[in-house]
Amino acid sequence: MAAAKHFTYVILGGGVAAGYAAREFAKQGIKPGELAIISKESVAPYERPALSKGYLFPQTRLPGFHTCVGSGGERLLPEWYSEKGIELILSTEIVKADLASKTLTSSADAIFTYDTLLIATGSSVIKLTDFGVQGAEANNILYLRDIDDADKLVAAMQAKKDGKAVVVGGGYIGLELSAALKTNNFDVTMVTAVKLKNGNVLEADIVIVGVGGRPLTHLFKGQVAEEKGGIKTDAFFETSVPGVYAIADVAAFPMKLYNEMRRVEHVDHARKSAEQAVKAIKAKEAGESVPEYDYLPYFYSRSFDLSWQFYGDNVGEDVLFGDNDPTAAKPKFGSYWIKDGKVVGVFLEGGSAEENQAIAKVARAQPPVADVEALKKEGLDFAAKV
Ligand code: FDA
Ligand code: NAD
Repeated sequence: MAAAKHFTYVILGGGVAAGYAAREFAKQGIKPGELAIISKESVAPYERPALSKGYLFPQTRLPGFHTCVGSGGERLLPEWYSEKGIELILSTEIVKADLASKTLTSSADAIFTYDTLLIATGSSVIKLTDFGVQGAEANNILYLRDIDDADKLVAAMQAKKDGKAVVVGGGYIGLELSAALKTNNFDVTMVTAVKLKNGNVLEADIVIVGVGGRPLTHLFKGQVAEEKGGIKTDAFFETSVPGVYAIADVAAFPMKLYNEMRRVEHVDHARKSAEQAVKAIKAKEAGESVPEYDYLPYFYSRSFDLSWQFYGDNVGEDVLFGDNDPTAAKPKFGSYWIKDGKVVGVFLEGGSAEENQAIAKVARAQPPVADVEALKKEGLDFAAKV
């Protein structure tokens, strides 16, 4: 058996959270050789959201979108990791994790041990084969999670120029990819949460499936407390096993603002949870502490020339405002969500940076609303006054 390689800190997974955690470790101070990132992927951490947007056109290629450019930060090229003495262990899938002995084993039988582990394995794609759909193995059925998937998609789009595509799923992937396919001159049919039991046949050169993901927690089953399908953590992202942290998509953490446990599969939380965990780890080592994670949910998407942001919670009564006429030159519209007489969430399409900041402030402050009709009329002006 090969000798184990030991690191003080291991980040398992090499996606968004790994890149932001590595940057935070470097900021806080680590010695060469202390930190390793182990990733199944063959490239250094990158901003995954690019895969369903710029990558499909394709003007966006690596190294252009390595973390942390997505939040306006420094682009961490592979050289950055070597300069900092951070070991990037790529194309390496961990197939066994033993938290009791602090040991990870790869599919090639390499063994890694650690003092502190950050689980950042993200989500897997739900496949049609998971539903036992007939013919689901066909090679023109495509998914999108990582750069290899995106390369297959781009190749299929180029091979079937101006062809027909069926998109299964009307979530984020479905919407963003339908827009990208349409812009690439595909004839697109979306199928959302509908079973074509009636025998209808939809002709397609390619089929793209975006029917959700599942947090990749299987390596830790039975070894760590779970909740909401993820790994349960405290407000510092430490799990039920001391010294083991779970961040980003896989973490079920206390959402302080709503006083309940939540799991969030979006990039803003991936970045912020990574930074929080590393700060907490380093503070603990120094006998200090950091404030609890106090996250304001933030989601965004872009398709065609539309671009929206959402802050807070979409629960309760929704109050639409603004001009949502699709023929308007620059439609600007949104919605407030009101629960227990307070605004708890705000969506805005086509907002400026200042307007988006204003809606974020509203979702955080949760101002009371006495008159829903007046709010509807006031629209964005209400947010500007908070
Ligand atoms: P992430 O998936 O980024 O990384 C997980 C890493 O772990 C991968 O490198 C994986 O290979 C590795 N891994 C898993 N198991 C392993 C094992 N056993 N051994 C070794 N390595 C392993 N969000 C948003 O807010 N706005 C957006 O526009 C988008 N757009 C978007 C597009 C597409 C195509 C996807 C798939 C997702 C988005 N998202 C998004 C969601 C966002 O990208 C997602 O929430 C973060 O990437 C989560 O970060 P993680 O680090 O948890 O997982
Ligand atoms: P999703 O959960 O957003 O959407 C899944 C969609 O598939 C839903 O509309 C659901 O109704 C539909 N669906 C489920 N089962 C179905 C079935 N059997 N037949 C037809 N439709 C079915 O997941 P996604 O769009 O696949 O995205 C995967 C992950 O990537 C998520 O974590 C998501 O948050 C993330 N992502 C986020 C963004 C963004 O934030 N802008 C962009 C892309 C991806």
